[in-house]
Amino acid sequence: MRWIQAAGRGLLVLGLVLTGCVSSKAGIADEDGAGRGPLTLATAGDLTGYLGTVLDGWNRTHPREQVTLVELPDSADETHAQMVTDLREEDGGRFDVLNIDVTWTSEFAAAGWIRPLERSRFALRSFLRPVVDSATYDGRLYAVPYVTNAGLLLYRKDVLDKEGVPPPRTWAELERAAKTVAPKYGLDGYAGQFLPYEGLAVNATEAVYSAGGTVLGDEGDRVTVNTAAAREGIDFLVRGVREGWIPKAALSYKEEESKQAFQDGRLLFLRNWSYAYAVASAPGSPVAGKIGAVRLPGPDGQGTSVLGGSDLAVSAHARHPDSAARLIAYLTSERVQRQVLTRGALPPVRASLYEDPDLVERFPYLPTLRASVLSAAPRPKSPRYDQVSLVVQAVVHDAMTGHQTSGAAVERLARELGAIAQR
Ligand code: GLC
Repeated sequence: MRWIQAAGRGLLVLGLVLTGCVSSKAGIADEDGAGRGPLTLATAGDLTGYLGTVLDGWNRTHPREQVTLVELPDSADETHAQMVTDLREEDGGRFDVLNIDVTWTSEFAAAGWIRPLERSRFALRSFLRPVVDSATYDGRLYAVPYVTNAGLLLYRKDVLDKEGVPPPRTWAELERAAKTVAPKYGLDGYAGQFLPYEGLAVNATEAVYSAGGTVLGDEGDRVTVNTAAAREGIDFLVRGVREGWIPKAALSYKEEESKQAFQDGRLLFLRNWSYAYAVASAPGSPVAGKIGAVRLPGPDGQGTSVLGGSDLAVSAHARHPDSAARLIAYLTSERVQRQVLTRGALPPVRASLYEDPDLVERFPYLPTLRASVLSAAPRPKSPRYDQVSLVVQAVVHDAMTGHQTSGAAVERLARELGAIAQR
């Protein structure tokens, strides 16, 4: 019965292709026969609302290759779930180009959901060095870096200046100011992104890396988290909540909620991506002119940020793969990458922009951001990163809410991550 249905479908497709009236998802019959035609671009929530204007620029000059933007939720995990559901659809789903988190490339490539790309079509040599690796899997290019990211520590410069305290370079300095200075000004001490989702995996991994620990080795095949260093990292976050210098409210913060708390003038210190600094310092923000940003601190000095950002990939079932690649080349061109920074407040992947004198004047945090991106450490590169992240989120959240000690959390991480590594 099944084969009759399948054969029937095959004949139908063949008939439509021969009569030229189908724009198939496999790109067999394109509008101009060269893999060109309209596209959809799926992305996580556009927090600074700039992408529509950027795509208008493309749509104006590419009338036969119009792009429709599909904006998914803010939370990385919800976007991941929606993209995966779409890519698994029998007919290949509705997304042609996908703006994927850097940590999903391996999973999507291994599953065959995105197609390998030709390196020569993209200006990879002009990109910041560490970003290209996030777009490769098994030695092949499966996506093109679009936006990079590194965490920064934002602080209330006005308050620290009044107290004669320099911005913290170590966790001890941060804790001291969060405990003693913040309450004097009616502020909470420190927050990051602590809701159980990818943001918490990021914050926890940064704390572990900053303390000199690691989570997984050998591209996810070996668990390396059961160490005193990893425990010290997790304990920084656990201690903060227990001692009250991390407010309980922060346990439900994603990027936006934490940025809002800082922007409303409720926090002394905030770990966030650089967009939060750009938005909180913009005219109209209650803390504009009162804030600064430094690299993340660690136990004995500079800490380590994880490498964030997103890559543009082409669905294996894209209707018009050539247009998809052309759109990606456009979005990673120097002109659009400049808009990524000036309109989107996001860190571009083109290295030269970080040294452009006009941009450095307008965005004084660029040199700090560049240094943070260049020294950022990637999250484990594994086709099962989604499972790894879920474990880290669940365990660290349990520890931060006081259901488990930091020592027990690290042991549980080792056990649960071990089960994933062996699968
Ligand atoms: C940002 C980063 C991304 C990270 C996410 C976590 O979007 O660019 O890499 O996974 O935040 O919430």
